[in-house]
Amino acid sequence: MTYDFDRVIDRANTDSLKYDFARRRGKPEGILPLWVADMDFQAPPCVLDALAERSRHGIFGYSDTGEDYAAALRDWFWRRFRWRIEPDWIVKTPGVVTALHIAVRAFTAPGDGVIIQQPVYYPFSSAVQSTGRTLVISELVLRDGRYQIDFDDFEAKVAAGRVKLFILCSPHNPVGRVWTEEELTRLGEICLKHGVRVVSDEIHADFVFPGRRHRVFADVSPALRDITVTCTAPSKTFNLAGLQISNILIADSRLRAAFTRAYAAAGLSQVGVMGLVACRAAYTGGEPWLEALKVYLADNLALLRDTLARELPAVRLVEPEGTYLAWLDCRALGLTAAELDDRIVRRAGLWLDEGPMFGVGGEGFQRLNFACPRSVLAQALTRLKRI
Ligand SMILES: Cc1ncc(COP(=O)(O)O)c(C=O)c1O
Repeated sequence: MTYDFDRVIDRANTDSLKYDFARRRGKPEGILPLWVADMDFQAPPCVLDALAERSRHGIFGYSDTGEDYAAALRDWFWRRFRWRIEPDWIVKTPGVVTALHIAVRAFTAPGDGVIIQQPVYYPFSSAVQSTGRTLVISELVLRDGRYQIDFDDFEAKVAAGRVKLFILCSPHNPVGRVWTEEELTRLGEICLKHGVRVVSDEIHADFVFPGRRHRVFADVSPALRDITVTCTAPSKTFNLAGLQISNILIADSRLRAAFTRAYAAAGLSQVGVMGLVACRAAYTGGEPWLEALKVYLADNLALLRDTLARELPAVRLVEPEGTYLAWLDCRALGLTAAELDDRIVRRAGLWLDEGPMFGVGGEGFQRLNFACPRSVLAQALTRLKRI
């Protein structure tokens, strides 16, 4: 089966956060959005069919899942990552961000430290700060065009900051790293040594470019399995973010009990039925679509890389090893953060994510989502040259 990722689908007036709220969010009319991490592609046909069939049934009562759902997840994680999961590890939440907030409440007390590696997806810091915990930051280091972990800094911050929890982003948004087994092992050793539990946000795990391998943090060793909560979701992979379904996988029964207690205490219970239907369908039949999509995204990335190198060398691509997000180093332009934003928005007419949103180390950078039809990306690159 072939899939038409070139097709431009008008997303205006679909209640789309990416397309429909520019004015309300202070952006000019006509701006081209390549910001928030959803894709401009339809979900796989198997998902559309399953949702249509469920919709035709017409009754949308409270819902839960059975063995077929757990089997779809089990088979997916085994086939894709050689990770063996058990049905009772699965805790469903209406999104990974919800799960991050719940985990912070479940595993730390007000005043405890929670460590993150900035620049990183901005809700990590909100999940820590909005719950009255202390944010501890170990900054990633850009060396020879590739981000690295400063392990000494990480351990020193863990030891000094009464840190009880580490929120890992793997693969990493926005810097695009796919962490190696060795890096994950070293992080894990530090966490084990200092009694730090880990929330591993692996929502981007399905987007890893050729030559890289996503390694599930909890599967690196039995000791790490017992201190780790793994956040997964079909939402990035199959473009289902608006259906709000994620699967949090927790092997250790005490960790799982603490998590589900905090979940219930936040007033949460079942998730939406359409998310469940879509998730099961996607993990069961969506693999050929995903493989085709990854080829398309790699070609988009090549277009981005080549165009910048040839026509806009002052904007440097930090080569992503995974994700469909490009982290653009614009520091050579010599602009302040406000000037850079202004040029991107007003001069180029592009809506990207501003680097400083991702915390320390973000200044002078912009994040560009290249999961769109190639013609849209080409148009965005033409605009970008105006900065
Ligand atoms: C690292 C990371 N975690 C979580 C999310 C959002 O997850 P959800 O929509 O399930 O809350 C995103 C979305 O971009 C992300 O990049």
